[in-house]
Amino acid sequence: MSLIRSFLIVSCLAVSSVFAADFKKDIQPILERNCYECHSLKTGKKKAGFVFDDLETFKLDIKDNDVAQIRPGKPAESHFLEILVNDGKNHMPPNENLSSAEIKKITEWITEGASFEKDAPKLALTAVKKNLPPIMSWTNVDGKTIKAGFVRLDGANVVLRMPLNAAEVPYPLTKLSEASQKLARDCAAP
Ligand code: HEC
Repeated sequence: MSLIRSFLIVSCLAVSSVFAADFKKDIQPILERNCYECHSLKTGKKKAGFVFDDLETFKLDIKDNDVAQIRPGKPAESHFLEILVNDGKNHMPPNENLSSAEIKKITEWITEGASFEKDAPKLALTAVKKNLPPIMSWTNVDGKTIKAGFVRLDGANVVLRMPLNAAEVPYPLTKLSEASQKLARDCAAP
């Protein structure tokens, strides 16, 4: 599978200070609700060859190399996460969006090392924080998508960093969709 990526996506939520994603408790139920329908060994639906209910198989997609869907500790380089947050043709689940809370959990889980074991050692976050410009999808009230990084909340505005020239642009919160306003608040939370 080729990883075509013109921009990096890493949710700012990855660098939040609460690391508490437990695969069985937090991640598996999200995949069960949103993905098993089309990606399951049990039901035999293996769209694009992926199954997420059989952990032995799923594990093969989790590795630190260029073709792996999930790169432990590197949410911005994990195709699996990118297609959950992008608005491209290969967006997953098709025609639906995970909630920002679900995306946040998955991002945390990948950032911490994408282990199935609850007590696995967590990866450090500093490298992720320093090297990867966070670029996310925002939606405004007109339904238009804006690709930008979160910088900070500033009064009634969210300051976004534009991917092309890194300009910081204040954007009125009230002009964003409810979900994107919530995302901005989540991003600003310590
Ligand atoms: C309604 C069916 C359906 C659901 C639900 C679904 N997928 Fe998919 N998925 C597909 C199909 C169909 C493809 C193949 C699309 C293609 O090759 O263009 C695919 C492809 C993929 C791929 C390969 C993507 C790529 O770029 O080649 C991944 C990874 C994936 N899905 C993950 C997920 C995850 C994670 C979820 C749940 C959050 C999910 N899918 C939910 C149908 C689904």
